[in-house]
Amino acid sequence: MTLKGRFPGSGSIPTPSHGAVGELYAAALARYEAGDASAAALFDAVLAAYPAHVPARYKLANLHKEAGELDAAEAGYAEVLRRQPAHAEALNNLGAIHQLRGAPAAAETCYREAIASDPALPAPALNLGRLLIDAGRMAEAERVFADAQARSLDAGLFGHLRAAAGGGSGDARAGVANGAARAPESYVRETFDAFAGGFEQRLVGELDYRVPAQLVALARRRVGAAGGLDVLDLGCGTGLVGQSLERPGTLARSLVGIDLSTRMLDEARRKACYTSLQQADIAAWLAGAPGAHFDLVIAADVFIYFGELDAVFADVGRTLRAGGLFAFSVETTEQGRWQLLRSGRYAQSDAYIAELYSRHGLILEERLPVAIRRGVAGALFLLRKR
Ligand SMILES: C[S@@+](CC[C@H](N)C(=O)[O-])C[C@H]1O[C@@H](n2cnc3c(N)ncnc32)[C@H](O)[C@@H]1O
Repeated sequence: MTLKGRFPGSGSIPTPSHGAVGELYAAALARYEAGDASAAALFDAVLAAYPAHVPARYKLANLHKEAGELDAAEAGYAEVLRRQPAHAEALNNLGAIHQLRGAPAAAETCYREAIASDPALPAPALNLGRLLIDAGRMAEAERVFADAQARSLDAGLFGHLRAAAGGGSGDARAGVANGAARAPESYVRETFDAFAGGFEQRLVGELDYRVPAQLVALARRRVGAAGGLDVLDLGCGTGLVGQSLERPGTLARSLVGIDLSTRMLDEARRKACYTSLQQADIAAWLAGAPGAHFDLVIAADVFIYFGELDAVFADVGRTLRAGGLFAFSVETTEQGRWQLLRSGRYAQSDAYIAELYSRHGLILEERLPVAIRRGVAGALFLLRKR
């Protein structure tokens, strides 16, 4: 997670807040906060007039990082830290650059220094914990998340990660896990806002992720030549389901996408294949969804953020028309009903899925075992409403 929005303190060297430099900086900041890359030229101008302007230097480095200009970003953060050694945001972002470059030890040092500099900042704790999980250092990761909780940082986010790092697990009978029965909204948003830009490159390009096209193909086989369906895409992400629906022929006459992450929705909007894209929590949105409204509901790689799925299945059953289809993927477990895994994702058992569809008026049409992404076992389900 790169820290972007905060305005760091100016430390011991005052930065001009008025006069020509102050006005230039205010103009640069307005463009930066609007996501306008032309802010870089204005930050350059601020620094040409006043090289000690740490906030301008820090934000310029962020822009370089976002543009993938890692050398320029690293040099920028190093200069910020030369002038203000305890700048926690710069330490955190420098750590992220080390991690991108495959240097976890250097990244770990930066994250730990960032936490020491500003214990109230969540990002370095999140980054450090995830780095430790990737390295298989679960007990240390758990401690990092527990410490963050003790500092009163986002309880939902760090509680979820702590439960996952601590061994996760869900209880078969009660359906109660060490963590919550679903991932908290803040965790989903943090994860996918940070990941949106690289999502397709990583998942499709590197991990051979094909679930959206596979689910659409399952539904298309059942529907046959008929098209003109009203389709709901739960957790639409960057819009890969929308893209798959369009080719070949038109299966959907309307397509509604729901997601929590602003930046994933921005990516989906660019694909221009959704009738409507809405930022909402799936469970909350479904609870208010109209009855008997959709012909096809798809959830591709989304139930990994839910352990308990009873309410979701009840509402999907209600919002489907008679004969409508429900296509989704899960990561699979043989233990109990559902499980919170060390990865922070959930898995469901076949027995639990069967319990859910029979309880909510749905019939199994097809179950296909697949690799959800490289090395991760799962299954695709196609259900039909009676
Ligand atoms: C792994 S991505 C899959 C995206 C897309 N379905 C695909 O197959 O490419 C999971 C998506 O689900 C969204 N998501 C997870 N939990 C959610 C929730 N409770 N409400 C809304 N969106 C959620 C995330 O923001 C993310 O975009």
